[in-house]
Amino acid sequence: MTFELAAQKHSTKTELFTSLAEQLRSLLHDERDLIANAANLSSLLFYSLPNLNWAGLYLLKNEELVLGPFQGKPACVRIKLGQGVCGTAASRRQTILVENVHDFPGHIACDSASNSEIVVPILKEDRLIGVLDLDSPSFARFDEDDARGLNELVDIFIAATSFD
Ligand code: SME
Repeated sequence: MTFELAAQKHSTKTELFTSLAEQLRSLLHDERDLIANAANLSSLLFYSLPNLNWAGLYLLKNEELVLGPFQGKPACVRIKLGQGVCGTAASRRQTILVENVHDFPGHIACDSASNSEIVVPILKEDRLIGVLDLDSPSFARFDEDDARGLNELVDIFIAATSFD
């Protein structure tokens, strides 16, 4: 299979995320493997969204978050629930937007280039599967439109994937 990333020439974030949703559905079509689908989700985001230095997943294993498929520099492997931006989003089961990671109490610095971050919890009905984490070298890179768009992509990922 060859997958060509669509050229990103969208005038609005809504158009960009609509295109990403179509591309993700096509990428995950006929495949339910968790690692494969998480890897393709990370790659699609990293190479399609501007101004990122990290995009990936942490997956819940034995009540802690463990590094999953990602694009970017090597990252910390285990994050406890309630710790850092990822562990906080996971324990609150809420999307967290951080305009300046240096102001977030307990932020875990994996890549010194990161200045802002968004973390979206991945929930299959009530079950916490993990989180989607994006980092940017720009301050305040992410807004509510990103939060909405990324939550829709996570919904597509959840529907397409088996979690045993
Ligand atoms: N900054 C995250 C840790 C993961 S890295 O950004 C890839 C946090 O505070 O949870």
